[in-house]
Amino acid sequence: MVTTQSANTIYEILTAHRLEHVRYAIRDVAAVAERLAREGKRVIALNVGDPLAFDFRTPPHLIEAASKAMRDGKNGYAPSPGVADAIEAIRADAERRGIHNVREVLVTSGVSEAIDFCLTAMADSGDNVLVPCPDYPMYSTILAKLAAKANYYRLDEARGWEPDLNDLAAKINSSTRAIILVNPNNPTGAVYSRKTLEEIAEIARRRRLPVISDEIYDKLILDDQPTYSFAALAPDVPTVTFNGLSKAYLVPGWRVGWIVLSGPAETTNGLYESLVKLARARLSANHPFQHAVRPALEGSQEHLVEVIQKLRARRDLTAHWCQQTPGVSCVPPRGAFYAFPRFEIPGSDEEFARQLILGRQVSIVHGSGFGADARAPHFRLVFLPDEATLSDAYRRIGSFLADSRQAPSKAQAHPGPLQ
Ligand SMILES: Cc1ncc(COP(=O)(O)O)c(C=O)c1O
Repeated sequence: MVTTQSANTIYEILTAHRLEHVRYAIRDVAAVAERLAREGKRVIALNVGDPLAFDFRTPPHLIEAASKAMRDGKNGYAPSPGVADAIEAIRADAERRGIHNVREVLVTSGVSEAIDFCLTAMADSGDNVLVPCPDYPMYSTILAKLAAKANYYRLDEARGWEPDLNDLAAKINSSTRAIILVNPNNPTGAVYSRKTLEEIAEIARRRRLPVISDEIYDKLILDDQPTYSFAALAPDVPTVTFNGLSKAYLVPGWRVGWIVLSGPAETTNGLYESLVKLARARLSANHPFQHAVRPALEGSQEHLVEVIQKLRARRDLTAHWCQQTPGVSCVPPRGAFYAFPRFEIPGSDEEFARQLILGRQVSIVHGSGFGADARAPHFRLVFLPDEATLSDAYRRIGSFLADSRQAPSKAQAHPGPLQ
């Protein structure tokens, strides 16, 4: 008799080893939080950087622009490098940011795809790319996918989380392909000084390396301070600048980002060719939403006033709580919506984060999930929720912290398996 299923016809799909060491702590924490939510528990989520999950709303003129594009039949594939009108608007925006030698622009499905494309185009297996530590984990994940190496350089907490330039320079070797900057920074909230950026440019020139500058938070600056696009300060350094609509224009679900290539003539030609090959291979980025790029960059920026106002108040509340709470210290964030405080806790940061969700229903991400040294435990707090919710979350974290400092063994006890 023929059976369609027997023990020896059941087999598991084999997977590549490349991703074995990849961590994506932000989503891991979310999985525990989602499980509790399914059990009917209300979890205060300070782990995911999506403003739309809180009291931030997409500016109506952008919704109208995208809807109009759909009504006007812009629903087919877009040109692979992006819609001409969006590319023109991005060029003009880069020019306003002081980048006067833009060579090429390419529209991507979020900065996420921009990161994937650029690292794929620049790093062969065995190569390495300088990645800040703590990092935004997408960089190391994509490098792992390419069998290339994240070559971590230190961000220095004692200097407001600015890059440790001696460490950065010392890490460069013959297999290094680029220096990545995330400015304003996720997860620390740092905004780099002009001097730091100029010194990085000097290292890049000396070692003949391109710079990849992720500036997705560049319009979310919380203090009155001058900010700089790396490419504007170093026009002679071949530079890849990332930006997009997700954060400042409150449409992370639209998946619109872009790559701006700048530098001396011809230094970016080869990279652009490779990027276009990758862009063609995925046909196009989201079409109708690209028609919201010009209205976003050139239309009313009114919503940003309210966004900054809210973020400032929430940042101040966060900084104040950190200052007042025994066992907590924090460099006050100056941009984006992340704080990266240090907690004095007895055990591992990952275990603390798990127990905090289970015990107090607040989700935060442990610093080791961003590659930070677990011996000096840090946590990333997303301060997007309103003040009442944040105050509630900080009260819960404070009481859990006090308990764990008094009775380390109890706070460390693991109640059972976590998926
Ligand atoms: C530093 C940084 N770069 C890139 C991204 C991804 O942005 P996008 O939504 O455009 O893919 C994020 C998202 O949190 C981020 O924090």
